[in-house]
Amino acid sequence: MKVGIVGCGLVGSTAAYAMVMRGVGREIVLVDYNEARSRAEANDIYHAVPFAHPLTVRAGSYADLAGSRAVVIAAGVNQKPGETRLELLQRNAAVFQSVVPQILSYAPDAVLVIATNPVDIMTHLTIRYARDYGVPASRVIGSGTMLDTARFRTLLGIHLGVDPHHLHGYVLGEHGDSEVLTWSLVTAGGMPLEEFCQRRGVRFDEEQRQQIDRDVRRAAYTIIEGKGATYYGIGSALARLVEVILHDQRAILTVSSATPESWDGPSVTFSLPNLVGGSGILATFPPTLTASENGALCASAEVIANAVLGV
Ligand code: LAC
Repeated sequence: MKVGIVGCGLVGSTAAYAMVMRGVGREIVLVDYNEARSRAEANDIYHAVPFAHPLTVRAGSYADLAGSRAVVIAAGVNQKPGETRLELLQRNAAVFQSVVPQILSYAPDAVLVIATNPVDIMTHLTIRYARDYGVPASRVIGSGTMLDTARFRTLLGIHLGVDPHHLHGYVLGEHGDSEVLTWSLVTAGGMPLEEFCQRRGVRFDEEQRQQIDRDVRRAAYTIIEGKGATYYGIGSALARLVEVILHDQRAILTVSSATPESWDGPSVTFSLPNLVGGSGILATFPPTLTASENGALCASAEVIANAVLGV
């Protein structure tokens, strides 16, 4: 099975490396306007294969994307220190106007996985561009708040002393400053958070909740201040998402998609719990939240709706 990655900067190349480490697919094709970069990244990543899983990694052109089951779009500019994701919109919308038609002219049947920020609006634009090629919205998936949900579970796990794989909790809405940590949905081993803390004798007060909220919401800014970009977290999230698509694994992920009829807030593209399989989004499950969480989620939808007006 073939995977295409368009945009071989830090995010795209780290996603390719993470796919090699996980053994996702059999062939990875890297496409970039800077062909020297895509060749160098492909060669460097290919040299990791003997330490991981047997698959091929090569640089190619848009034509080499033909037959891809999934194409990751990580092309565009990323945040500079202090810059919000929304501030990247105009520059990256121009990139996508060129990139998306070229991808679809060679890989019209691929599931499109959007990584470029602001990822929710870029996913919305891709849905709009892809519609002209007969691609249903369900076949366009943004990484959305997959990474934020992972950050949330990681920080919760540290505090609770539990492997984050055994915690359920979702960050929903915009992958950005208005995202919503849905505390009311958190469970540990099937137990509501409060019950788990009581039975384990773990103190968990409002200050600790607010600290985790700040750390999740500001994670990218803090990392970018220190090293200029984030790429290991998002690259791993993209590898996991492509794995779910290629192997039809039916995972429920907080990826960015067009909100369904059952969502009673503003109609936008952002992250709700989605059932993801080989053909893309199979179902979307707007959750039952507290009144304050639901209000925050609708406010997040308004942020996306207003940003889309600008493109
Ligand atoms: C981050 C980038 C991927 O949150 O938006 O690290």
